[in-house]
Amino acid sequence: MRKLLENAAQRAISYLESLEFRGVAPLPEAIAKLAVLDQPLPEEPSEPEMVLKLLDEICSSATMAMAGPRFFGFVIGGSLPVTLAANWLAGAWDQNTALYNSTPATAYLEQIALRWILDLFRLPRECGGAFVTGATMANFSSLATARHAVLKRAGWNVDADGLFGAPPITVIIGTEAHPSLIKSLGLLGLGRNRTIKVPTDSQGRLRADALPSLSGPTIVCTQAGNVNTGAFDPISEICEMAHQDGAWVHVDGAFGLWAMAVPSMVHLSAGMENADSWAMDFHKWLNVPYDSGLALVRDADALRAAMAVTADYLPTASPFRNPSDFTPELSRRARGVEVWAALQSLGRNGVAELIERTCRHARRFAEGFQSAGFEVLNDVALNQVLVAFGDAETTNRVISGIQTDGTCWCGGTIWQGRTAMRISVSSWATTDDDVEQGLEAMLRIANKRDL
Ligand SMILES: Cc1ncc(COP(=O)(O)O)c(C=O)c1O
Repeated sequence: MRKLLENAAQRAISYLESLEFRGVAPLPEAIAKLAVLDQPLPEEPSEPEMVLKLLDEICSSATMAMAGPRFFGFVIGGSLPVTLAANWLAGAWDQNTALYNSTPATAYLEQIALRWILDLFRLPRECGGAFVTGATMANFSSLATARHAVLKRAGWNVDADGLFGAPPITVIIGTEAHPSLIKSLGLLGLGRNRTIKVPTDSQGRLRADALPSLSGPTIVCTQAGNVNTGAFDPISEICEMAHQDGAWVHVDGAFGLWAMAVPSMVHLSAGMENADSWAMDFHKWLNVPYDSGLALVRDADALRAAMAVTADYLPTASPFRNPSDFTPELSRRARGVEVWAALQSLGRNGVAELIERTCRHARRFAEGFQSAGFEVLNDVALNQVLVAFGDAETTNRVISGIQTDGTCWCGGTIWQGRTAMRISVSSWATTDDDVEQGLEAMLRIANKRDL
């Protein structure tokens, strides 16, 4: 076993060290080689060393270098080395972190990580938290709790009696809500299409002045950090209006919520603490390994009421927090370990510095494009930059050229009718030099006449 695990560690380290020097996107030849794995199910066992060798030799070069310093697609962080190391150790522990009694160390780490997050975000320490796979499930868990709570206030127990015959719930979203939030509404029986959609402004912010008057069980879904522009809804104002009418306010803050942890960004996050629930990711800006996110709910009892499970064979009675009392899953990996490791290692100031640094990199990209005469479509208030290189066809050609060149990787989008390239700087590993290298490659490709 030792030899195998040491071999795996050596291969993983060599892989990470190679990222600085290889192209970000895998080469077509490397992807084509994956077909080697397309074999019938083996009848007989294979040597573990051979299995690992096959995996590394065939797959490592076919990966996208998301863990490297010049991947700027989607909103994707790398893994801080300490969080990867913690992940390896926790993998060896292999703790099914559902219940405190059976997995005290990892359940305890999760409890501490939750307290630290609430402290960092200046949220009440009584809030409940569900460590889940990512913002999609954090949205789902928060909205399941909202559904439970607003119907309870209307005298209906949705967990016992379902939605059949329940008082209708009004769900309000902005026209720029993230698709994963809309998917969560569908999964919860609230309907992907039966929402009231409130118009948004040029940055994708929900227009508070366009909120309808609210009555009856209502959930208002807001957003901190639009996936394209990074913009924040006016959450303080929305909370004030919605709470007057007894509505539940949820914040999808997959990455934008991290502004709450940064003193220099309070102008963005002011009033966000007044919401009822918040969804966020750890695998984006905290730079922990996939998959990891958190649902926070002001009323911990409401979260527990929507999620807890009991059964005679489960040792649920515990003076400590049982992680699975708060999550959709029962069996689950110990996500709190890497979150704890990141926070222990960075500290409050290190988190703020990471967020500020990546935002500074984003501003440098925007400046670079603007001084080269290209159009930046968003106000770069966070870590997202949208740039157009001309018409849709030209922009798409530049994006494709950048992806093939391999110096860095960015994806495309359509923002309010304009085709654009998205740059998201979310990785701890990105240095000033990486930004300059990336910018130089992007401008070189964009300025080619015969692209
Ligand atoms: C605003 C927002 N919400 C939700 C999500 C979904 O997050 P995840 O993919 O971690 O589930 C994203 C992903 O980028 C996002 O930007």
